[in-house]
Amino acid sequence: MIIAVLGGTGEQGSGLALRWARAGHQVILGSRMAEKAERVAQELCERLGGQVHVTGADNPSAAAVADVVVLSVPYSSQLSILNSVRDQLVGKLLISVVVPLRPPKVSHAWRPEAGSAAMEAQSFLGADIPVVVAFQNISSAHVADPAHEVESDVLICGDKSEHKAVAGRLAADAGMRAVDAGPLANASVVEGLTAVLIGINIRHRVAGAGIRITGLSG
Ligand SMILES: NC(=O)c1ccc[n+]([C@@H]2O[C@H](COP(=O)([O-])OP(=O)(O)OC[C@H]3O[C@@H](n4cnc5c(N)ncnc54)[C@H](OP(=O)(O)O)[C@@H]3O)[C@@H](O)[C@H]2O)c1
Repeated sequence: MIIAVLGGTGEQGSGLALRWARAGHQVILGSRMAEKAERVAQELCERLGGQVHVTGADNPSAAAVADVVVLSVPYSSQLSILNSVRDQLVGKLLISVVVPLRPPKVSHAWRPEAGSAAMEAQSFLGADIPVVVAFQNISSAHVADPAHEVESDVLICGDKSEHKAVAGRLAADAGMRAVDAGPLANASVVEGLTAVLIGINIRHRVAGAGIRITGLSG
């Protein structure tokens, strides 16, 4: 699969990119600045010993050639980034990693007017560009080292099973267990849980508290 990670130069996106490249996917890091994406892509290739396919491009160029596009930018910039790639996204699945946080109180759950960052993205993009959410509750502290075993589950929300299946496969390829968490309307809960986890991190002085769903057979 060709995966574009918009904001793939950042903490969360670069870690996911590393894991997907390691699993054999072709990954393109997207950035507002192509040179920055190329530089980070080079670093990721070097970390994995050069046996992988990671390149960098500006966000629209990355989205244009991808089969699936991952959005991994701060909530405050999601609409401007989506606006810059909207034409390239038509007919493709967008997987949002975005969490709406309102600094400085990032441990306080907060919902945008649309209900969630993902609902806001879906409403902005329209029905031709389905949105699913995944990886909101996975700390970059765990994702960054591809050899590290991630215990936290990836809660996936979306309105079509086939779209959630794609995100689930990418979670598995990144070494994580995916759990279908219902329709996109539930994204508000999944996004909100991240603020809860940040608060737990602060109170327990740890870097990556996570969520594990119990009672499942698999
Ligand atoms: N970090 C985590 O542990 C974690 C965990 C779960 C979910 N998330 C969510 O995942 C998303 C990405 O998190 P992150 O920690 O990777 O973020 P980040 O490192 O702060 O930013 C990611 C990328 O977004 C772009 N960006 C940053 N500020 C921007 C701005 N003002 N306008 C436009 N683009 C901007 C930058 O790419 P370019 O400069 O290359 O364009 C940056 O490398 C966020 O929504 C976050 O809440 C993060």
